[in-house]
Amino acid sequence: MQTTNFSQFNLPSILCRKTTSSRRLSPVLAVASPTITSPSRHQVTHSMPPEKLEIFRSLEPWVSENILPFLKPVEKCWQPIEFLPDPSQGPEQFEEEVRALRQRVLGLSDEYFVMLVGNMLTEDALPTYQTMINTLDGVRDETGSSPCPWAIWTRAWTAEENRHGDLLRTYLYLSGRVDMLMVDKTLQYLIGAGVDIRLENNPYLGFVYTSFQERATCSSHGNMARLATQGGDPMLARMCGAIAADEKRHEHAYTRIVDKLLEVDPNATMLAIAHMMKMKIVMPMHLMYDGQDPNIFEHFSSIIERQGIYTSRHYAEILEFFITRWELEKLQGLSGEARRAQDYVCRLPLRVRKLENRVKKIEPRQVKFSWIFNKQVNA
Ligand SMILES: [Fe+2]
Ligand SMILES: [Fe+2]
Repeated sequence: MQTTNFSQFNLPSILCRKTTSSRRLSPVLAVASPTITSPSRHQVTHSMPPEKLEIFRSLEPWVSENILPFLKPVEKCWQPIEFLPDPSQGPEQFEEEVRALRQRVLGLSDEYFVMLVGNMLTEDALPTYQTMINTLDGVRDETGSSPCPWAIWTRAWTAEENRHGDLLRTYLYLSGRVDMLMVDKTLQYLIGAGVDIRLENNPYLGFVYTSFQERATCSSHGNMARLATQGGDPMLARMCGAIAADEKRHEHAYTRIVDKLLEVDPNATMLAIAHMMKMKIVMPMHLMYDGQDPNIFEHFSSIIERQGIYTSRHYAEILEFFITRWELEKLQGLSGEARRAQDYVCRLPLRVRKLENRVKKIEPRQVKFSWIFNKQVNA
């Protein structure tokens, strides 16, 4: 995919102000589309000018009124045990439910389990995402229990998200289809590695990223639900569907925040959208490693692309969705730089779709996956 240098937009509002020296990155660094990109050489920090902090302070009442209602009260949320064999029903019932679960997953392929592990790892790396959101200037949780509505949102969002990984991990464990030792090692490596999203402590960039990522995960879990139904596991389909519904609700919240930012500060927000798109939206697990395969993310990306779970087409569709949802083509009165950013973003889906055609030509190959007992998987 052709890339455009962000500097061409000459963006004063989110201009790089401070950089730190280079750091070592895992050899695996890729974007949400299966394109491999080179590691960032330096990290930009605090790119939002301090005077913009006031915008986020002034939006606090708006967040209370318009964003916090997207959270579901704990008592109305599903919990993982509702989808899992329940030990409170007594040992016989529990064992019967575990046997039934193991029977249901027999119709699912090893490729499916690689993808399910990938989704579980993405969810279970939640400490990384909460950390990342709390790097954002103007919206971070300053104390860990801050009464600021931005912080209330982030904590409750984290608590909701935490159920996703718990549910998937327990299901995977009970399925008997995956090597949990290798899955757990991968998770430990992943959380240790973090994620190179390059949000620059900038909440404009942060909320564009989270909008995109929630929609992408919703799509991915939804597609996994569809494949689970086809493979004969309706309970797993319900689980993936329940997770996808949470992601959708979160997407609505983050999308609404970007809506508001476009209203109060259209130039900076348009520039931020272009900046994120230019850097490409990286998948949160792009730095994963299992201790064995240095190209595990590339192999994983190849499987989800081939199985149609998350592809360049999805990337382009998400992009098109947000261009329409945020009415980016209709934005008027932008500065010259923001107009160029608008033009760049609105033309981008076409370029991504060209990439899609190239990716389709890749031939399948047998790849070893340490997460799967028989290990050989068609990637
Ligand atoms: Fe999630
Ligand atoms: Fe999410």
